[in-house]
Amino acid sequence: MSNVKLKVTRGEAGSEPAAVTYEVPYRDGMSLLDAIFWIREHEDPSLAVRYSCRSANACKECSAIVDGKAGFLCSIRAKSGSEVRIEPLNGRAWIKDLATALD
Ligand code: FES
Repeated sequence: MSNVKLKVTRGEAGSEPAAVTYEVPYRDGMSLLDAIFWIREHEDPSLAVRYSCRSANACKECSAIVDGKAGFLCSIRAKSGSEVRIEPLNGRAWIKDLATALD
């Protein structure tokens, strides 16, 4: 089975952020948000991420920086065998991990 590597910024306001790498089993059609749910379910339930609609690109709460570009975690597909860097959005108050304050 192939995996996807996610290098995710962890930490919380007032701490020094650190990148933590997770290996997630790849599934056809999975989004990066699905991969983060897998991490929360199997490795660390404390990984913070914002979301509501989970797939419709409607709530825009899952915004993050993916490989240096802003995007929505629920609409970016994971690629088998790839490594992806995921960071919290710039320009918003950082709360924890991938969660930033809503405007
Ligand atoms: S979870 Fe709503 S846009 Fe991604």
